[in-house]
Amino acid sequence: MKISVFAPGKLMLLGEHAVVYGYPCIVTAVSSKIKVELENTLSSKIEINAPQVKDVGFVEESIRIFKEKFKFKQGLLIKTSSEFSSQYGFGSSSAVTIATLYGLNKLFNLNLTKKEIFDLGLKVTLNIQKVGSGFDIAAATFGKTLYFIKGGKTIEKLNIKELPLVVGYSGVKASTPKIVQQIKKRLKKEKKEIFNLFDSIGKIVEEGKKSLLEKNYQKLGMLMNENHRLLKILGVSTEKLNQMCKAAIDAGAYGAKLSGAGGGDCMIALVSLSKKEKVEKAIEKTGGKILKVSNNADGVNYEKNI
Ligand code: PMV
Repeated sequence: MKISVFAPGKLMLLGEHAVVYGYPCIVTAVSSKIKVELENTLSSKIEINAPQVKDVGFVEESIRIFKEKFKFKQGLLIKTSSEFSSQYGFGSSSAVTIATLYGLNKLFNLNLTKKEIFDLGLKVTLNIQKVGSGFDIAAATFGKTLYFIKGGKTIEKLNIKELPLVVGYSGVKASTPKIVQQIKKRLKKEKKEIFNLFDSIGKIVEEGKKSLLEKNYQKLGMLMNENHRLLKILGVSTEKLNQMCKAAIDAGAYGAKLSGAGGGDCMIALVSLSKKEKVEKAIEKTGGKILKVSNNADGVNYEKNI
C-alpha cells in the first residue's frame, strides 16, 4: 500500500516561552503543509528520502519509537516534501514527525487516536530536542486554533474562523532549542523577574482566548502588542522583528508580535481586511518577506494512493 500524509505547520499566536513553564498558549495551524509518502516494500530495509536534511532525524526517531511500541519488521520507503522552507520556523520538524507517525498508523491499520499520535510525537521531539512544550506537535496533529498547556495537559480547540493575519519573515533563521535553553539558564539567576513576565504572559493568553472567541480584534491586537513588549523585556526579540512589528502597527494593524521563540523567524500582525495591503507593504519596506499562508488550517490527514 502507498499513502500520502499531510501535516500543517503552525504559528504561535500568544504565550511563547511561558508555555514551556506550564502557562497556556494559543497556537494556530497554517495552510502550508509537509507531505510524507509511505509505502511498504518487500524487503526489510527502511529507505528515507528527505530533501530537507533536518527531517531525516525526526523521521528515523518516529520509526524507532513506533517500532519499539508496535514491533513491525516490514521494509518501508518514505519520502518527504514540504510546501515551506524549514527556515521560516513554521515547525517542519513537528509536522514531519506527526505525518510519519500518522502514516505508520494508517499503513499498519492500528486505529490510534489523535491523542495517541500526539503523545508519540511529543516523545519523538523531546528525545531529539530535549526541550519544548509540544504546542507545535499539537497543531500538526489536531490543526485549527488551540488553547494549549504543556505536554498536552489541555488541548482545547477554539471555535473560531480564520484570523485576518499578516505573516512576515525576518530573514533570519532562529534556533528554538538554543533560545529555550538560554532562558532556562537565566532562570537560575533571574527567577523572580522572569516568572513575573511569565505570569503576565499567562494572563494575556487568558484574555486573548476570550477576545478571540468574541472576535474582539481591537482587544486581541492590544494583547498581541503587550505580549510582544514582554517578549522584548525577556530579551528574545530582535531589532528586525521590532521594526517589522512597529511598521505593521503604524500602517494600521490592530496589533503585532513576534511568533515563536524569537531571535528571528516570523512576526504576525492582526489586521482589518481594508488595512491588509498597507500593512504588508509597510512590513516589506523594512525588508521583511510576506508569507502568504492562511491559518486555522486542518490537522494531519491522509489519502490512499493505491
Ligand atoms: O520557534 P517556534 O516557532 O518553534 O516556537 C517556540 C515556542 C516556545 O514556547 C519558545 C517553545 C515551545 O516549545 O513552546
